[in-house]
Amino acid sequence: MTVTIVGSQLGDEGKGRVVDLYSDEADVVVRYQGGDNAGHTVCHDGEEYKLSLVPSGAIRGKVGVLGNGCVINPRTLFDELEMLRDRGLDPDVRVAQRAHVIMPFHRVLDGIEEDVKSEDDQEVGTTGRGIGPTYEDKAGRRGVRIGDLLDPDVLRERLEYIAPQKRAVVEEVYGLDPDALEEYPDAFDVDALFEEFREYGRRIEREDMAVNAGAYLSDAREAGKRLMLEGAQGTIIDIDHGNYPFVTSSNPTAGGATVGTGLSPGVIGGGEVIGIVKAYLTRVGSGPLPTELGGVPGDTPGYDGDPENPRTESEELATEIREAGDEYGTVTGRPRRVGWLDMPMLRHAARASGFTGLAVNHVDTLAGLDELEVAKAYELDGERLETMPPTTERWADCEPVFRTFDGWKEQDWEAIAEDGYDALPAEARAYLEYVSDDLDIPIYAIGVGPSREDTIVCERPY
Ligand code: GDP
Ligand code: IMO
Ligand code: MG
Repeated sequence: MTVTIVGSQLGDEGKGRVVDLYSDEADVVVRYQGGDNAGHTVCHDGEEYKLSLVPSGAIRGKVGVLGNGCVINPRTLFDELEMLRDRGLDPDVRVAQRAHVIMPFHRVLDGIEEDVKSEDDQEVGTTGRGIGPTYEDKAGRRGVRIGDLLDPDVLRERLEYIAPQKRAVVEEVYGLDPDALEEYPDAFDVDALFEEFREYGRRIEREDMAVNAGAYLSDAREAGKRLMLEGAQGTIIDIDHGNYPFVTSSNPTAGGATVGTGLSPGVIGGGEVIGIVKAYLTRVGSGPLPTELGGVPGDTPGYDGDPENPRTESEELATEIREAGDEYGTVTGRPRRVGWLDMPMLRHAARASGFTGLAVNHVDTLAGLDELEVAKAYELDGERLETMPPTTERWADCEPVFRTFDGWKEQDWEAIAEDGYDALPAEARAYLEYVSDDLDIPIYAIGVGPSREDTIVCERPY
């Protein structure tokens, strides 16, 4: 049986901690999309692990697989494996031969395009990891795949086609000198790329990491193994179901789990799909956010305030929640934008992925506020909307219709996690039950702190 973990909002909902929570009963944990743009945090026994590529189940010693839907920067992969070994773990990670490889020129192009867009305030605020350019080349049928790293002739052939083409784009489209790039001096040099990436290929072979992911996972399933599928990013930054163009270039929604692993839709849909919800919203990067509180300069459209020196009550609240939840990007360290929970967004996410259960995190972070708001609907041109409009421009025009909830006080969260759901303050239960009843989806787990122990477990999916 499979359990699929999907971000229901804008990423950073706490997917890593839920994968960690339930993966004790799993045998294999699979990432199905994205790359090292992800930053998944797992806290256990006073240790904090931040993983961008290695599946979070590695902390529990589970086999990790990077599925064909992922884009893999081998530098990051091997650095992360090294970091985990230095910390006393023994990660067993397999990579799909069909997964695409992030090349240094992809990172360069990610940076250049963001710079150019920023001249007209159109930048996405990407993580700069080369994600978009790599998926572009995948769709353009000119990408390099993990399997190609294992075959020197194929690798050279691919590089000889793609590297000069990218060089020409930098020179002729952007008018820049590809050889004057300080961070990546050899990014467009076929020989240098061949040497470096062929060595990664040898290492993948030596460490027996390459797999035919679909077959490997199907065989594991048929042998009775339990699979967990770990989504990265979230529904509203899904390239199809998110707020395009302020999105990542893959499908974090549950459909991505089938395409990105080679497991059939029936297998994924026949299992559990758990939507991970943050009890409020955060967003890293640009794009609208109708329930936003305050703002982050450079990311919030039109915002020129200073989160360190809040001027209004809304800015104060944003700063308070950001500090309480330690809302700074795992990958880039950027302050995250903060907003109230948005039900039209969650309805959209639940429909797109077919959630069978929810895990709601950061209930502790909201403690101490007198009142909380939740957007129960939007108003647009005098009409009431229950879900998100399909264009980003219309979404930006939506005015949230709020419902006010009583806040809850600070608690001994550890004791509550131990005692279970009924120990939660009544106000927090009312908030959670509203979300669950509205979506008609049961709550499986509630996060009341960052650690594995700070979780109220209502349901075990396996
Ligand atoms: P992911 O990308 O979805 O895995 O989430 P991140 O790891 O990027 O961001 C979640 C952050 O919130 C991490 O720092 C977690 O340790 C922390 N976190 C997760 N759940 C909770 C919770 O219930 N309470 C608190 N206080 N922190 C949490
Ligand atoms: P996890 O898995 C939050 C955002 C970036 C940017 C947009 C596109 O930790 O939840 P990209 O580099 O992917 O081309 O950037 O998507 N973004 C994330 N935001 N959490 C993530 O991952 C993200 N991965 C990408 O900030 O707005
Ligand atoms: Mg994250």
